[in-house]
This record gives sequence, structure tokens and C-alpha cells, in this order.
Amino acid sequence: MRKVAVQSVKGGVGKSTVSAGLCYALRDLGQQVGYLELDISGTSGHRAFGLDPQSMPRLGLKTETSQLVPPTIQGIKMYPLAMKFTEDFSVAWRESDQNILLSGGDTAINTGRRGFIQETLTRGVDWGELDWLVIDLPPSTGQDVMNFYAYIEDLFGVLLISQPSEIAVVGLKKTIDFLKTEERPIIGLVENMGRVLCPHCRKEFYPFTSRGVDLHKLADKEGIPFLVSIPQVDSMERLQPYFAELSRKIMGAKPKVFRQDVFSGRRRLVRDLQGVALKTVARIIPRL
Ligand SMILES: Nc1ncnc2c1ncn2[C@@H]1O[C@H](COP(=O)(O)OP(=O)(O)OP(=O)(O)O)[C@@H](O)[C@H]1O
Ligand SMILES: [Mg+2]
Repeated sequence: MRKVAVQSVKGGVGKSTVSAGLCYALRDLGQQVGYLELDISGTSGHRAFGLDPQSMPRLGLKTETSQLVPPTIQGIKMYPLAMKFTEDFSVAWRESDQNILLSGGDTAINTGRRGFIQETLTRGVDWGELDWLVIDLPPSTGQDVMNFYAYIEDLFGVLLISQPSEIAVVGLKKTIDFLKTEERPIIGLVENMGRVLCPHCRKEFYPFTSRGVDLHKLADKEGIPFLVSIPQVDSMERLQPYFAELSRKIMGAKPKVFRQDVFSGRRRLVRDLQGVALKTVARIIPRL
């Protein structure tokens, strides 16, 4: 099973849309595909597949192993988090390793946020036979994303999504820096919604007031492949050719890990040690 993570620091740039489009396109190439959403706070991945949270099929349970079994919908094994945390209630938590509480109901998930991610990525889900698992990450490089990287095994690579606006590119550069520093395999960059395809005159235009950034050049400079430029359109069907192109490129991709030199490795070690020291102090202070 090749696991692809779809990531961006910035929210709303199209991670879920690209994840869904990629799942469909890989399925159309005859691949067995799974979709996993890890955006605990956002919980909107089902919408990218046009699923209604009230009527979509539920997760199954394999009683012998207590594993969840994602239902097959439209030929894809799906686990959007609305199957677990409904859209109607917020999900609140205090600390990464305390219980997740669902407001509006009495349900508490007896594992922390970190535990939930660990369980989901390791023994918690029976995916059966899959060629690809597309994992839709939350925005940011926050704790859930760090937990994802802590527990994911055999990650094939990360797909970066960005718009070409100056603001989105600030987030893109941070994501690339994060992945390089963490020595994670990068598949390449997808530009999304960088131009609008007018349904009436069929002309394309740039939809932002800020200056556009050439993402081809940026990808070149960063040493990562530019995979596809997806326009903003008025229906998912129009995006099919772009996702078909993306899926073909992903089938032949050779994700690249940017090995850090000794100096940056040392910098990372210092940063990690600082993190451990801060956590220890935070644990000790309330006891004083
Ligand atoms: N190429 C596109 N053409 C038209 N609409 C798009 C396109 N890509 C994304 N959208 C729309 O933009 C919105 C945000 O997209 P999406 O939910 O995929 O972003 P996201 O990065 O997953 O967001 P979040 O960070 O909140 O999880 C959605 O309404 C989606 O339908
Ligand atoms: Mg999303």
C-alpha cells in the first residue's frame, strides 16, 4: 500500500478536493484506493466526495480484532472523519493526550487526540488490500500533523497543495521547509485555484488582488516536481482531466527526501531538546 499525504500549512487551498479527485482518478486507473481524513477539527473531507453526513454509510467493525472497517463508496474505501465526529458538534480537547470530548452529546472518545491518530494510523483500521491510501491532513504544522508524522509508517510521499497568491505561498514555503527539515519524502507540488476558468466566455483570469507567484519557478528552485496546475471551475467534472494527469504522474513518482546536513541536523536536535525541556517544565510547574 502506497500512502500519500496531502498537505498545506494554509487552510482552504484544496487539500480535500485534490485528495478526492486523486482517489477517483487512481480508481479509474484500476487501482484499489482508500481515503483517510485526519483533520479532526475541520471534518469536512466527506464534502469533497459529495457525501451527505446524515445518509452516508457508516464505519463497520471487525469484532475479532476490534478494527474499524471503512465502507466502500463509489469504489473507494472511505474514512472521512464525519463518520466518527458528526458535523453538528464541535470537538474539544485540552491536551494532546487527554480525552476528546464531543459537545452536544455525552460521547467521549477514550483516547486522546494523539492516541486517536496513533490508533487510526496503526492497528485501528482494517483497510484490506489497497494500492493507495490518500491521507488528507489538517492545515498547519501543528500537533496533529506532528503526530501524523510520528505514527505513519512507510509513507510513500507528500503532495503539496497551494494557490499562487503571495499569502498562500508564505504557507507553502513553510510547508516545504518543514518537510525538508523533517526529512519527509516529497512527491511534488500541485497548484490549485490559481486561475479561474470562466464558464461563459471560457477565458481564464487570475483571481487575486495580490501579485501572483510563479509556482513552476518556485518548485524548480526548491528542487521538487511541479505536477499540475488545476484551475478554479464551477463543477468537479471539469476537474477530471487535471486529476487524471496528476494520478498518472503519481503512479510514476519517485518521491525525494532532502537529507539535511550535519549543521541543520544539529539545529533540529537543539530545537527538539528545547521542546522536551519546555514540556518537562510545563508538567512540573502545576505540581509546585
Ligand atoms: N479547483 C477548484 N475549483 C473550484 N472549487 C474548488 C477547487 N478546489 C477547491 N475548491 C473549493 O474550495 C473550497 C476549499 O477546498 P477544500 O475543502 O478542498 O480545501 P482544504 O485545503 O481541504 O481546506 P481545509 O484546510 O479547511 O481542510 C471548497 O469549497 C472546494 O469545493
Ligand atoms: Mg480539507
